[in-house]
Amino acid sequence: MTDLTLTTADAATLDVDVLVIGLHSGDDLTLAAGAEGVDAAFDGALAATLELLGASGAVGEVTRFASLGKVTAPVIAAVGLGPVPDEGEAVKTESLRRAAGSVARSSAGKESVALVLTADEEAGAALAEGALLGAYRFAGYKTGEVDPKILPVGTFTLVGAAADVERATVIASAVAKTRDWVNTPANLLRPPGFADEIAEAATAAGLDVQVLDEHALAEGGFGGILAVGNGSDAKPRLVRLAYRAPGATKHVALVGKGITFDTGGISIKPAQGMWEMKTDMGGAAAVVSTILAVAALKPNVNVTAYAALAENMLSGGSYRPGDVVTAYGGKTIEVLNTDAEGRMVLCDAIVRAGEDEPDYLYETSTLTGGQLVALGKRVSGVMGDEDECARVVAAGKRVGEGMWAMPFPEEIVKVMDSPIADTGQVAQGMDRSGHMLQAGIFLSRFIPEGLPWAHIDIAGPSGSGEAYGYIAKGATGVPVRTLLALVEEHAQA
Ligand code: BES
Ligand code: MN
Ligand code: ZN
Repeated sequence: MTDLTLTTADAATLDVDVLVIGLHSGDDLTLAAGAEGVDAAFDGALAATLELLGASGAVGEVTRFASLGKVTAPVIAAVGLGPVPDEGEAVKTESLRRAAGSVARSSAGKESVALVLTADEEAGAALAEGALLGAYRFAGYKTGEVDPKILPVGTFTLVGAAADVERATVIASAVAKTRDWVNTPANLLRPPGFADEIAEAATAAGLDVQVLDEHALAEGGFGGILAVGNGSDAKPRLVRLAYRAPGATKHVALVGKGITFDTGGISIKPAQGMWEMKTDMGGAAAVVSTILAVAALKPNVNVTAYAALAENMLSGGSYRPGDVVTAYGGKTIEVLNTDAEGRMVLCDAIVRAGEDEPDYLYETSTLTGGQLVALGKRVSGVMGDEDECARVVAAGKRVGEGMWAMPFPEEIVKVMDSPIADTGQVAQGMDRSGHMLQAGIFLSRFIPEGLPWAHIDIAGPSGSGEAYGYIAKGATGVPVRTLLALVEEHAQA
């Protein structure tokens, strides 16, 4: 992985491949604080030069030019930071993250890049995080030599900035782990193998690990996970990871959907786009990666994470529309559509998580296409208790992950009832109106009475069709940084 170090050395004499300065937009372009020494080496001509080159200072815009010996680094890159902040205000942390991420992406193939930007701890953390997240690259499966021009930056140096480098590295590693898992093809990551990889990483991190295989799941009565997972030769798993802080009084449960491939089952999906369903385990990857980061950062709060792993396939063992399934804990579910499999595995995991008596429960899943219709590709839908929804949305805002709270309207609550079972799985008649909310309502029926909770639907935001800021094309790692922020919010000093 890319390294990051801090220095207070003179930027003009730094022996690096690229020197990065900040540029603010506005009627007149303004260099960001920190660039003074570099500007002096160019006789104060940098703002005018950048104007000439067509730079605008928009967030994340990168403009490069050769230094021609005026400073030691051969290339100068000016990165846009948006408007000059108002008196007494700082540049938005998300702008800094995105700017650093853009620099990282556009500097692929360079060995060393120095960011010359004055930054306090908070701004420095954003720069470090953005740079490390932006440097992510999925290795892929091409055989032969890797083109060096696409390799991530080797080392970032922050010049004149404060930052907790270790923390930024832990966070970026957790996001990278999620992205790697989500980007992995479904034939190479099936439930038993995924459970093994999780167990190995968690054991190395010092977490307590428990894996229930198909026999243990049958023994325990995990009807939801088994209904979905039994259609595949690669049998389902329920993974439980625990982090315990000595002296902690609060306990946070995290639950993630881990469908390693979603064909839709008997209610099969159309061929077009089905390949994207290799990413249907993004929720599980996120909760596991979050607790791995927790194990490294050691906040004073107990955390238990559940990954519900199954492959939604078609076979003689598949569950069918019309089936009635008994979930873990005994509630019966009338199945109408085997493509609504996420909620089937999640209800078991949620009930099991409730047995640990947590103080808060956060669940995340690539649960519905309805999320994409309602909120688009970058804003996750948040459902649950009003207070917890607000907390999740606020945490998302702090870390730069878009989140929006959604309601549970009574007329939609009603259509989730079943005439023959304790709950419907989907709306009677498969009415699709508000179907992101329908899924949230279904989950709410398995939350223990009085437990504060929220569900984060990341169907769109867990992946990106384009690269921007610190996001690469493919898996994004959403909502790892929000979950970590929530855990840390519940930690006592
Ligand atoms: N995994 C899908 C949801 C999804 C869709 C994720 C697009 C990412 C991108 C989920 O299992 C699913 O199939 N949901 C159905 C539910 C429906 C049958 C009630 C959907 O959204 O159509
Ligand atoms: Mn599905
Ligand atoms: Zn799914």
